[in-house]
Amino acid sequence: MSVLSVRNLRKSFGGLLVTNNVTLDLAAGERHALIGPNGAGKTSLVHQLSGQLSPDSGSITLAGRPIHGLPPERICRLGMGRSFQRNTLFTDLTALENIRLAAQSVTGPRWTPASLIAKNQRLQDVATDTLTRIGLAHRADTTVRALSYGECRQLEIGIAIACQPKVMLLDEPTSGVAPSETRGITELIRGLPSSMAILLVEHDMDVVFAVADRITVLHRGAVLASGRPDDIARDQAVRDVYLGSGSF
Ligand SMILES: Nc1ncnc2c1ncn2[C@@H]1O[C@H](COP(=O)(O)OP(=O)(O)OP(=O)(O)O)[C@@H](O)[C@H]1O
Ligand SMILES: [Mg+2]
Repeated sequence: MSVLSVRNLRKSFGGLLVTNNVTLDLAAGERHALIGPNGAGKTSLVHQLSGQLSPDSGSITLAGRPIHGLPPERICRLGMGRSFQRNTLFTDLTALENIRLAAQSVTGPRWTPASLIAKNQRLQDVATDTLTRIGLAHRADTTVRALSYGECRQLEIGIAIACQPKVMLLDEPTSGVAPSETRGITELIRGLPSSMAILLVEHDMDVVFAVADRITVLHRGAVLASGRPDDIARDQAVRDVYLGSGSF
């Protein structure tokens, strides 16, 4: 059974069709990469899955529940975690505080004063465990402002992990990251618990082929191909529009 099921999704910006009848499934624990040229509609699709954008038509089902059209906070609480293409961290807070806040916002009671969040042992444990998992335990008390760019991207993934999602959406987690840090982020993604399915948007084919057990290629908003990595790498239509351009 699919944990995430997208059926005939469509979205236009004015006359521009950015999501053209997209159908996509993620099985529980699946590592699914979404690739395609710049402007293919990958981020627009992710925004619809997380609720930042409303689809014009079609359906999105998360663990059997229709979620299309719900607000992002609700979709997040139902088990959709995400990291953004741009950093969205609280720069004056520490790495630990950023994760604790995220865990509280999704898994804790709402409207909790900051002073109480700091005293909540369960949230503290989730935040500490998460920092260890993402390899940033030694940076717990460092403010985000003092972290490297790659560490910020790691922390963003940590924030999504702390929310214990059923599906994790990762939009270009290695973009702009130094090659030495890309390897660490790739290992971090590979090491995520199999209890969460992953939809990974990524241009770096080394990362895609290291992580994915299935790849979907978007082109002009539509699914051009979907299948096992080996089959996608050999697919002539995919090579013509994307992989053949030297990125593979
Ligand atoms: N809010 C918006 N209003 C109008 N057009 C938009 C909006 N957001 C995105 N677009 C357009 O939709 C198309 C798809 O953009 P999108 O960001 O989804 O592509 P992408 O596949 O994520 O590209 P990239 O690989 O560069 O991140 C582009 O032509 C873009 O200019
Ligand atoms: Mg994008």
